[in-house]
Amino acid sequence: MADTSDRGPFQAPEGTRDVLPPESARWEALIATFAGVAGRAGYGLIQGPMFEDLRVFQRMGEGTDVVRKEMYDFFDKSETPHHLALRPEGTAGVVRAFIQHNPLVPWKVWYASPNFRYERPQKGRYRQHHQLGIEAIGVADPDLDVEVIGLLHDFYAEIGLRQVELVINSIGTPADRAAYIEVLRTYLRSRADELDPDDRAKIDDHPMRVLDTKRERSIPVAEAAPKLIDNLSPEAAAHFERVQAGLTALGIAFSIDTRLVRGLDYYTHTAFEFRSGALDAAQNTIGGGGRYDGLVEDLGGKPTPGIGFGCGIERVLLTCDAEGVFPAPERAVDVVVVDVTGGDTARDLTFELRRAGLRADRFWDGRSMKSQMKQADRSGARFAVLVGSDELEAGEVTLRDLRGEAGQVRVARAAVLDELRRRLAQPA
Ligand code: HAM
Repeated sequence: MADTSDRGPFQAPEGTRDVLPPESARWEALIATFAGVAGRAGYGLIQGPMFEDLRVFQRMGEGTDVVRKEMYDFFDKSETPHHLALRPEGTAGVVRAFIQHNPLVPWKVWYASPNFRYERPQKGRYRQHHQLGIEAIGVADPDLDVEVIGLLHDFYAEIGLRQVELVINSIGTPADRAAYIEVLRTYLRSRADELDPDDRAKIDDHPMRVLDTKRERSIPVAEAAPKLIDNLSPEAAAHFERVQAGLTALGIAFSIDTRLVRGLDYYTHTAFEFRSGALDAAQNTIGGGGRYDGLVEDLGGKPTPGIGFGCGIERVLLTCDAEGVFPAPERAVDVVVVDVTGGDTARDLTFELRRAGLRADRFWDGRSMKSQMKQADRSGARFAVLVGSDELEAGEVTLRDLRGEAGQVRVARAAVLDELRRRLAQPA
């Protein structure tokens, strides 16, 4: 076959997807549902740049694969080029914006945005994925942890998911974390030859990442490791107790997973994940987050606590498919105009109807009645407004019910809007 690579047809880059109608209607509905959940709790939309100074992300998580191996970074075209990177996750940019704009706290924001990670693409894992998320900055109160976890829980419930499991853990204060890393490193060194070589390589720089290993050989070592929650300071233990009590009070079931450390470096105190029982274990995390009480400071701001989560839209929709919930909402128009008299009525009436708030569409190129009616039947609209030469002469239109038994009637052109409104108010 001839090489067409320089002429197309082009494909979407590996690991990316086009979301087209009608599937995209589910995206609209999912984002609207999330906006409702977040908005009712006082969170406002944040819309930020899709790229940042590379150092924003480096400072956030130098030790993580997401930052070290998976970032899409590039230089721009300025005279002294800036080293930039596409956002691999949402939190660092929000924290950068918080420091830059210095808003009143608590600062509660939500977002729906793409993230970019150079990962090995597979079902539920993409190079461009999209997250619904919230961040709440400026409050250390453990009841805020309960609010944040509770909002994600309620979002899943609102879209109808049932097989969702919440796991939580405490990473403790930054000092607890640092002290624990020493304990853990000593332990892992003592059992280094029992570990898979990939995990052994993490002992020096990222011992906590050995805890959530998925490598068979390492799992017994990880399971027997000293636990951070047994080494928490009294302050961190009390925080974690209060979070558990709050979840229980709100009727939110959870389990504690002492090996839950999450893939990003910035977590302190509460870390959590929602997992779906309906997806393969490798990609079953449909949302996760936690506290990041040191991140504002790490990025150059005043010490300020924060907490949030990100929830993968693609994975949530895969879960909806697996559970048979949250189908694509119907997006068909209410009315189509079939005009075989030259198109003036189609042009004018569709706009009249739309300006009056109806969903209206039409057909093009002066096709025959038969061809337009075929398209009208396929369109999913409830009514067709037909305009032939008879109707045009009489100053009327024919209103045809495309779905019910009502058949068709002639109505005055001037009365069609009222008549459609009256009929659309009745159930189909
Ligand atoms: P994360 O766990 O890296 O956390 O990502 C959050 C969610 O995004 C995951 O649970 C998953 O549903 C989805 N996700 C991540 N990577 C991919 C991918 N390659 N393909 C498809 N879906 C993916 C964060 O990003 C943190 N910023 C969350 C957070 C907010 N923590 C505090 N505030």
